Amino acid sequence: MNHEQGTVKERIAAELAASRRRSNGLTLEALDDAGLLAQHSELMSPLVWDLAHIGNYEEQWLLRAAGGREALRPDIDQLYDAFENPRVDRVELPLLTPEEAADYNDRVRRRVLDVLDRADLGPLVPRQRDGSDPRGALLDAGFVFHMVIQHEHQHDETMLATHQLRKGEPVLLEETADVAPLRPPAEPEVLVPGGPFTMGTADDPWAYDNERPARTVDLPPYWIDTRPVTNAEYQAFMADGGYRTRRWWSHEGWEWVRRREAASPAFWRREGDDQWSRRRFGRLEMVPPEEPVQHVNYHEAQAYARWAGKRLPTEAEWEKAARFDPATGRSTRYPWGDTEPGPLHANLGQRRLGPTAAGRHPDGASPLGVHQLIGDVWEWTSTTFTGYPGFRAFPYREYSEVFFDDGYKVLRGGSWATHPTAVRSTFRNWDFPIRRQIFSGFRCARDAEPA
Ligand code: AVJ
Ligand code: FE
Repeated sequence: MNHEQGTVKERIAAELAASRRRSNGLTLEALDDAGLLAQHSELMSPLVWDLAHIGNYEEQWLLRAAGGREALRPDIDQLYDAFENPRVDRVELPLLTPEEAADYNDRVRRRVLDVLDRADLGPLVPRQRDGSDPRGALLDAGFVFHMVIQHEHQHDETMLATHQLRKGEPVLLEETADVAPLRPPAEPEVLVPGGPFTMGTADDPWAYDNERPARTVDLPPYWIDTRPVTNAEYQAFMADGGYRTRRWWSHEGWEWVRRREAASPAFWRREGDDQWSRRRFGRLEMVPPEEPVQHVNYHEAQAYARWAGKRLPTEAEWEKAARFDPATGRSTRYPWGDTEPGPLHANLGQRRLGPTAAGRHPDGASPLGVHQLIGDVWEWTSTTFTGYPGFRAFPYREYSEVFFDDGYKVLRGGSWATHPTAVRSTFRNWDFPIRRQIFSGFRCARDAEPA
């Protein structure tokens, strides 16, 4: 094994350990057995399902597929298959107990570290995947380990959404103050010049199949907000009768408002004429005006944008704003360049239990001066989730291909609950337009007038 592979392996081992500490902190260390086995919301799994699903996914991909090892618990594959069991049914399954899940996850992990030790990670830049050597392609540049690390963090974010829906006393630690300076952008929006940019990636060793291949996309000029829409701005829409005004809403959106009698983002409560509080992980607090609005669905984002005389950005517009450097004409991995996210770049990784005020993290701004594209809140785009031209499912269709062209909307940029390894400017998330238990917000865009 060469020296470079050793460095990649050390990083993988550290990230595997970090994701497991996080998962255990959200489950075994946070709640008793009753709390872990309970169904806190019809939208979510019992937390103990996520916990053993994480281990089972790791067994399937790292022990069996990549390691070529014998199966440990093939008998539980079906229980933890997300397609076999809709979330609402999982509480009725003969699931592993929290203790059994913890023990199972430990046993898988011990073997996985041995697989990692012996693995040949091949070239450190992933090859073109032509389907000729599936196991080699899995290991290339550590891809399958990265996939499993990101999977665990994605479930950790899902588990945080379950915690947010859970009734009862707070169990998660309140955050410490944010160290990043508050230096809001001077302008509310910037003009992104028209022209081509590279969208997607050909060789990022952490990228999912849906981020590939890279291609050139030529966009007309457009304006994009330098910050996500804040609670104060969103409250102005509410105070102006936004939820009662048919013309701001799409047909589908208006149906949703009427069916749900929606009048505010999720978890908000009216405290007086234009005063609102919110419940956040079991604590009640006044809605902070300067934070990006959170827990809004696609329809709410779209209606606000129309009220503001704007629109949501397309997925391509979002990505260009988040990685195109006009000085070089190149696309970078993050808005601020190619260096890994640190605490001054973005609010990521559950360091807090919510977003930071709009205007924090000036060090994470893009060359054009767009702030907070990464972290804080997932941002709704107007694009329906589909494959890029030349898409090839890898290593399995069920990660994303089966969700293409099915009405899911793309969200970008990650939230405060997203781990830094699980987001980059090419990363694509998706959800139904009515969903708002996720940590979702948005920013607006608009067409540039012809010159
Ligand atoms: C990419 C967040 C939409 O949670 O449904 C987890 C991630 N895929 N296990 C999801 C995922 C398989 C996925 N999202
Ligand atoms: Fe999963």
